[in-house]
Amino acid sequence: AIPVILDVDTGVDDALAILFAVKHPGINVLGISCVAGNASLDRVVENTLRVLDVADAPSIPVAAGARRPLLEPARSASHVHGESGLGTLQLPPTDRTAESISSIELMRRLILDSPRPVTLVGLAPQTNLALLLRQYPDLVKNIERIVFMGGSTTVGNATAVAEFNVWHDPEAAAIVLDSGVPTFMYGLDVFNQVAIGEQVALSLVRSESNLAQVVGRLLSNRIALGSGRNAEYTGLIGDAGAICALVDPGALTTQMLPLRVQLAGYGRGQTLVDKRTHPGEDIMHGLAGDWEVAEVALDVDVDRYARLFLDTLGLGSAL
Ligand code: BDR
Ligand code: CA
Repeated sequence: AIPVILDVDTGVDDALAILFAVKHPGINVLGISCVAGNASLDRVVENTLRVLDVADAPSIPVAAGARRPLLEPARSASHVHGESGLGTLQLPPTDRTAESISSIELMRRLILDSPRPVTLVGLAPQTNLALLLRQYPDLVKNIERIVFMGGSTTVGNATAVAEFNVWHDPEAAAIVLDSGVPTFMYGLDVFNQVAIGEQVALSLVRSESNLAQVVGRLLSNRIALGSGRNAEYTGLIGDAGAICALVDPGALTTQMLPLRVQLAGYGRGQTLVDKRTHPGEDIMHGLAGDWEVAEVALDVDVDRYARLFLDTLGLGSAL
């Protein structure tokens, strides 16, 4: 199984990703690091612990990291994820507790203890990952790669051009890209595609099992939150797609592309991607500045990931 550490801001779709990762036999979740993003840090930690109960997960260490982005204040995403971070879903309290050390420290220990290089999976603003890599640059050799949900080669969501996770902490995303660890971007190009039909989601809500009900309610959360603009994303598995990318990369079309994060102006938080096949004037005249190269997911077999997700959770019969 692939040893992974998840960095999350649970978050409706982070919850789906955690359930899926914990249940997939090809993934070994060593620990979960929490960051402010979709909800406040305290909510994110509590949501994460409660979601582990839903999954009936073994004891997996969970710790709290950054309360806010590197430079800016935290900005709520309650219009998408509700005040609690889990939309309209209310999960029962849990006996699980967070570690007393910071999630930066937890990640460092887990990485050093792992006999194999660890894959870091960022499903949130990358503040924790940036702090880890800046504080402990020597860990780079023990990290297999960083797979992150974030960015876009086309449209944004937080702004017209910027995706939420990168927009929430653009400096952190730039630090991660520049860290020397190979990076894989699972951005909005694919994130906005992988959905499970509304009827399937509603049939899960009506089913007997608690896990099915929770998954169904998370998937149909955008209906519950109302607003025409959100409703079009009903059924998205969201961050869980980045976990699918770990175990079934063959369903994605990807390309190695020059990438950088825009840090100034209205475009702050946008991921700039150079899809040109020929060098332009900027390169010829030495004006291009610094770009990193990342593997970027551009397209996805939607049905294959929808099936993988439901089958892994034992809910395939709903399709
Ligand atoms: C990202 O932001 C959050 O709303 C989701 O959890 C996802 O990680 C999408 O832009
Ligand atoms: Ca997230």
